[in-house]
Amino acid sequence: MSQAKKIADANGNVGVLIVGLGAVGTTLVAGTHLVRKGLAKPIGSLTQMGTIRLGKRTEGRHPLIKEFVPLADLDSLVFGGWDIFGDNAYQAAKKAAVLSNEHVDAVKEELEALKPMKAVFKREYVKKLDGPNVKSGADRWELARQLVDDIERFKAENSCERMVVIWCASTEVFMEEKPVHATLDSFEAGLKADDPDIPPSMIYAYAALKTGTPFINGAPNLTVEVPFMREWSARTKVPIMGKDFKTGQTLMKTILAPGFKARLLGLNGWFSTNILGNRDGEVLDDPGSFKTKEESKLSVLDTILQPDVYPDLYGDYTHKVRINYYPPRGDNKEGWDNIDIFGWLGYKMQIKIDFLCRDSILAAPVALDLVLLTDLAARAGMGGIQEWLSFYFKSPIAAPGLNPEHDLFIQLTKLKNTLRYLMGEDLITHLGVEYYGYFDEG
Ligand SMILES: NC(=O)c1ccc[n+]([C@@H]2O[C@H](COP(=O)([O-])OP(=O)(O)OC[C@H]3O[C@@H](n4cnc5c(N)ncnc54)[C@H](O)[C@@H]3O)[C@@H](O)[C@H]2O)c1
Repeated sequence: MSQAKKIADANGNVGVLIVGLGAVGTTLVAGTHLVRKGLAKPIGSLTQMGTIRLGKRTEGRHPLIKEFVPLADLDSLVFGGWDIFGDNAYQAAKKAAVLSNEHVDAVKEELEALKPMKAVFKREYVKKLDGPNVKSGADRWELARQLVDDIERFKAENSCERMVVIWCASTEVFMEEKPVHATLDSFEAGLKADDPDIPPSMIYAYAALKTGTPFINGAPNLTVEVPFMREWSARTKVPIMGKDFKTGQTLMKTILAPGFKARLLGLNGWFSTNILGNRDGEVLDDPGSFKTKEESKLSVLDTILQPDVYPDLYGDYTHKVRINYYPPRGDNKEGWDNIDIFGWLGYKMQIKIDFLCRDSILAAPVALDLVLLTDLAARAGMGGIQEWLSFYFKSPIAAPGLNPEHDLFIQLTKLKNTLRYLMGEDLITHLGVEYYGYFDEG
């Protein structure tokens, strides 16, 4: 065993500021209140229901993760947020129609108390949306200052010890890294010059880091994946991470593809299509926003299958992803996958998947875990990119020069080993030769 790392205690309130009180945001808030009241179980949440093995299998130690690491208690979370619509979280949850009326009404008072602050929003970055609850300011610098004030005010008014900002807002148009993103100085000059290479999501992330607040990116937007955010967050020991919550079809992909590779089954093609009818689907109907999502969804297979290492198996496959906005389905997305694989001697096979999923039901526990584990990382002094939280993202961010890991099972091992490392427990390698005496002397 090694020395446990120093982690500040988890006492006091944690302010959770959600950018975008839509389907995911309200399902996170309502769900957390329902769990707090004992009215539902936090299914899908590793921090709430997951266990972790410690030591040798013979020791029989497998505590709940929340009893092993010092996580903030659900009762200590205080939710707030921003949205371009002025609806309180109760009204927004009703409109999102993810949860039943019975569930939403059971936490009506808590949801009604959450009224979104005015958002920083510009239509050119999310073409299919517009709303009235938006800040005005002379330039991006002024808007950033208003967000900084929002965060500080919320923290003081709710007696929060610590804060976390989580982006659950819409997918912005595809953006690429530009010179303005190089350094903190160039970025601040860009804010003052109202540079269009700075989308709203970056203004929120800037305000978060400026106030020492960790930033979680649940959408595929570029946001913190630029040099100055990496450097600044590492230097000031503020966690950043992303991007794009791993749910639905991509979750399935990162479960299945490692299995194909493990058994050396080849791949000719993977065609994925979805129908969904929520606001996210409507936003993604715009080609600019879809391109951001498409890049995120496409990146997964290559990194898992490693075509350069296995050219005979994965050197030449077709990967297509489609999202179709189809209002009748609301948040209950249907995702089809057709997978063309080949086996022994090259014989072809097919797999068909029809996943009738609920997007926000899959995303909410991911968002909750991220809030709690990010707060843990901050208390442990782990600033900058949190690669160990890749488990939760479609497009995990890693240090420059490293290939991000997409295999869900490697990601889980990494996450749990990080927790063991923080707490001074032995890392688990699954070797186990000691039980069989193969190499014993004499
Ligand atoms: N649901 C999932 O499974 C899932 C998975 C991965 C990623 N995501 C991403 O999470 C995000 C939220 O998804 P959703 O289904 O809740 O969408 P949604 O449309 O229901 O909610 C997004 C909310 O963000 C608000 N918004 C947009 N721009 C804003 C801004 N600049 N400031 C403040 N609020 C803003 C919108 O008004 C809306 O209420 C999307 O980007 C989506 O792509 C969702």
